[in-house]
Amino acid sequence: MENAFRSGILAVLALIFISSSFANASDSPFIVAHKRVALKKLNPIVERISVSIDVYNRGSATAYDVTLADDSWAQDVFDSVIGNTSMSWGRLDAGSLVSHSFEFESKVKTVYYGAPALITYRVPTKSGLQEAYSTPTLPLKILSDSDTGKKIEKLKRLQSSAPPAFHHHRNQTLTAVRSKMITIPYLTALTTYFSYGLLFVFGQLRDFFRRIIDLWSHSSLQGYAPICLGLEDFYIRRLYLRIQDCFNRPISSPPDAWFDVVERVSKDNNKTLQRTKNVSRCLNLGSYNYLGFAAADEYCTPRVIESLKRFSPSTCSSRVDGGTTTLHTELEERVASFVGKPAAVVFGMGYVTNSAILPVLIGKGGLIISDSLNHNSIVNGARGSGATVRVFQHNTPSHLEKVLREQIADGQPRTHRPWKKIIIVVEGIYSMEGELCKLPEIVAVCKKYKAYVYLDEAHSIGAVGKTGRGVCELLGVDTAEVDVMMGTFTKSFGSCGGYIAGSKELIQYLKYTCPAHLYATSVSPPAAQQIISSIKVILGEDGSSRGAQKLAGIRENSNFFRSELQKMGFEVLGDNDSPVMPIMLYNPSKIPAFSRECLKRNVAVVTVAFPATPLLLARARICISAAHTRKDLIKALEVISSVGDLVGVKYFPAEPNKQQLEEGRVKME
Ligand SMILES: Cc1ncc(COP(=O)(O)O)c(C=O)c1O
Repeated sequence: MENAFRSGILAVLALIFISSSFANASDSPFIVAHKRVALKKLNPIVERISVSIDVYNRGSATAYDVTLADDSWAQDVFDSVIGNTSMSWGRLDAGSLVSHSFEFESKVKTVYYGAPALITYRVPTKSGLQEAYSTPTLPLKILSDSDTGKKIEKLKRLQSSAPPAFHHHRNQTLTAVRSKMITIPYLTALTTYFSYGLLFVFGQLRDFFRRIIDLWSHSSLQGYAPICLGLEDFYIRRLYLRIQDCFNRPISSPPDAWFDVVERVSKDNNKTLQRTKNVSRCLNLGSYNYLGFAAADEYCTPRVIESLKRFSPSTCSSRVDGGTTTLHTELEERVASFVGKPAAVVFGMGYVTNSAILPVLIGKGGLIISDSLNHNSIVNGARGSGATVRVFQHNTPSHLEKVLREQIADGQPRTHRPWKKIIIVVEGIYSMEGELCKLPEIVAVCKKYKAYVYLDEAHSIGAVGKTGRGVCELLGVDTAEVDVMMGTFTKSFGSCGGYIAGSKELIQYLKYTCPAHLYATSVSPPAAQQIISSIKVILGEDGSSRGAQKLAGIRENSNFFRSELQKMGFEVLGDNDSPVMPIMLYNPSKIPAFSRECLKRNVAVVTVAFPATPLLLARARICISAAHTRKDLIKALEVISSVGDLVGVKYFPAEPNKQQLEEGRVKME
């Protein structure tokens, strides 16, 4: 009875795994199939398992080796593995098939479907040398002999002599990573580490003396642990507070091309800051007001005011209760058609869109592979989902493929069962780097391995693409290839909230299950109206060409500003067409110096440092808007150039301008 039950389970498992094992066949020069030959119970707790593996050479390899790949894992699952887990090298002529058997004994756990086998193989190179590669570990599948035979026959028909994909990708990875590396000048790296080291040592000394004084004066809380603990607290008290005047600057006007920054003073060495009644009118290089909709707009603003009168600032209800107004349904239809998906759902906050949706889409037994520089909302959503999270090198499709292959081969932690679902999460434009996602390549990798693509277009929707439809339009990717399209309304649309667009089935599912839809108050009606109206302007449905002008404006402004900064000798990250452009500062002392000197000259910039960036990579992040005039941009460039000279952040030799070249020529003559 027990045996019959077990055979039933094995048969079901065989059916489940037979299909997935085909996936491995396409790239390796070998086609490998496993079959369980025998399972013998030696005593109540020990079983002997005999496994045979069929290896079929598709033609491009010359030698191979078979091992039970991960002994430590096998130990874990089987408790004890007895017997040889390795097999020797052998020659296998193109187009031929051999079978290998190996045997091991294990304490019974009835988990046979995960044991991995690793095929190491050699291929000839152009120079005649042999190079060794490994297939990803292939999960052991329990198949009946007839299944395996049929499968090999089918795979033989698919015979291909294409060279193995690994070789190609390995080289690609190296070049891609090399070209992406930020090269920090040696001296800058040294002084940056030295500065942080000095701040750290002084901070620790001050904390040490503070603790002694506290003990003396009995001022510490008796019996309680400090409520703020750890490095973050130390970082805030001893490093951040020194330069806190560069952050959280109060603003007293809309975030237009120019805005009013409230002046503050400190009487206690920057520990606290008091607002004054003075404001300085500054050129705004920090807001995400890419299309200029954040300030009063002749088309949007009257309609927003009207919606405020007709509805109210808040629906005071969640979507499923009384929070779905006619504006919300119109907004979702407009967003879906704007981004090119069948349906969409909107949320009150972009951050929440990521952090609440990921846990609904995936959970335990699932795998999220996330770009290493993804936004914090994605990081928190991924963590909160309970799925396994792996990271791939920023914007490097070849590394994504490597991670995917390894993870597919390894399967879930401990059990090594296949992943229930795999989601790859990337951004359209990376908010700290200004870099465009390599979406076509990433989508190709995802399709190959049947992983879902989740694209966060917070900074790209509305800002790039011929009609503002984001990176898919800009890079020529069919939106049907992107499974989950996420974006926010806080940038190009001058409003607030976020959206998820996808298939009708997905959106319906999210509406039934996502807590941010079920339990959070819906998007404020005037904010929804602002998004509807700005989309209408972008698409020219307001009867004017302002939308097209704005799109052309943001592109021209961004490319002009970026190229001028580069000519001046700044190290500017990011790609052409991206309105986000970080200027590298590196050294912690240069962060406040750059920010304060710009503000003195009425240019407001945002500076970003650790923990938002890696320790060495502090930067000023410039955000360009279609609302900036050429005169604004020239003023900004003049100020940034003189501050750059003063602070010493022009890390590259400046390109001589035409006039200087002429002068040089005259002098030489
Ligand atoms: C990539 C990315 N995703 C999500 C968000 C969160 O969006 P919001 O600020 O609209 O809440 C941001 C914020 O800047 C972002 O940069």
